Amino acid sequence: MRRFYYIATMGCQMNEYDSDCLGQQLMNYGFAATDNHEDADLIIINTCTVRAKAQQKAFSLIGRMMGIKKRRPDVILGVMGCIAQQEGSSLLRKFPDIDLVLGTREIGNIPQLLDRVMRNEKVMATDLSIKPIPRERHDGYFRNSIKTYISIMEGCNNFCSYCIVPYVRGREVSRSPKEIMEEARSLISQGIKEITLLGQNVNSYRSTEEEDVDFPQLLKMLSGLDGLNRIRFITSHPKDLSDELIGCFKELPVLCPHIHLPFQSGSNRILRMMNRGYSREQYIGLTAKLRNIRPDFAITSDVMVGFPGESDNDFQMTIDLIKKIEFDNLFSFKYSDRKGTFSENMDKKVDEHEKGHRLSILQSIQKEITLKKNIEHVGKEEEILVEGESKKGVQLTGRNETNIIVNFYSDIKLIGSLVKVYIKRAFINSLQGTVIKSL
Ligand code: SAH
Ligand code: SF4
Ligand code: F3S
Repeated sequence: MRRFYYIATMGCQMNEYDSDCLGQQLMNYGFAATDNHEDADLIIINTCTVRAKAQQKAFSLIGRMMGIKKRRPDVILGVMGCIAQQEGSSLLRKFPDIDLVLGTREIGNIPQLLDRVMRNEKVMATDLSIKPIPRERHDGYFRNSIKTYISIMEGCNNFCSYCIVPYVRGREVSRSPKEIMEEARSLISQGIKEITLLGQNVNSYRSTEEEDVDFPQLLKMLSGLDGLNRIRFITSHPKDLSDELIGCFKELPVLCPHIHLPFQSGSNRILRMMNRGYSREQYIGLTAKLRNIRPDFAITSDVMVGFPGESDNDFQMTIDLIKKIEFDNLFSFKYSDRKGTFSENMDKKVDEHEKGHRLSILQSIQKEITLKKNIEHVGKEEEILVEGESKKGVQLTGRNETNIIVNFYSDIKLIGSLVKVYIKRAFINSLQGTVIKSL
């Protein structure tokens, strides 16, 4: 009888990548994918704990999945990702029906771990001190996909005072260029046209395994691959953004002219308390260098409001920076305490209501800026990688080089190819255009 797996993925791109890796290994193990958890013999929840809200969402999903186990006792339930890593055995105490707790570094061990689960053992695998175990591939898993991720490094050494990631993803470890190149070649042979390189801080990528290779060198190696149309990467830390890396945007045509460069706060006092390692002036300097490459270079960012001790004046400095830089898009969050971080024990916590108030002011200002930035695309001819049919199904959808969604009417035969599109209209989350020609 065929066995099916279902993975619910929450959190960041790292988790999406990990879910894909797990899915491939489960297929090698004899499972087939299903998108309905009711049909699944194995259900895995890939969790995130970066903010309090993410944690609540994950716990409520785990709770709901426990209900399935009551109805279907044979189903295998697993929890993986950052909550699994952080909670470990306490997760098994809280939810005794869980069969498998899988930490962030042990995904490559899944065949042996599943063998144990099949023998009715409760399994917990959360060693964070090991080097991530190479993950098996399933050729053909990405057939019909146009773009995907490659993780080039795991972990983070930065210890920003608010952040849980170093505790749940461990110290930085870079993968070897050989392994990354092999993975890229396999993806391209399955039809992948765009690869986003992943790491908590890709700028500090460095492998000395065969030869000394840093991030700009890795980008140069990947950009020489035949059949790859686009390379992107996330996330860059402002304190480590070198001129050499900025130079890659000029040198490498496959590297998309867009950077995600979180700034977190516009106040130097708060940036110091966050342990970010740069000042607002240095941040502004970096954005100037990037826009010097080309004025329409896209810069997106992350920011939070209500860090402990953030005064109204600090908040105004953040608003001022947002207005000065005019980010193409901005992800904004309310600060929340994370267990075990430095800022958890800081005093002068900002009240929830005030955080909400600051966030809504910030978001309404950014909304206008994003719309204005999107309108700047109108009248231009842009290169779009066609990804599929739009949500409503009547149009095709793809993204331009700066990662904005572009919708247009055309033939589905264009899916997977690059086209030139004339941009006619701009909305807050997308652009609308007409195809001029295939590239
Ligand atoms: N590695 C990336 C970001 C990882 S977390 C970087 O260095 O920028 C993604 C975003 O979540 C962060 O940029 C930050 O804005 C937000 N974040 C992290 N911890 C948070 C917390 N405790 N409260 C609110 N937002 C947080
Ligand atoms: Fe967290 Fe800072 Fe590391 Fe990003 S760089 S993952 S915000 S500790
Ligand atoms: Fe969340 Fe872990 Fe990513 S905490 S943001 S899933 S690294």
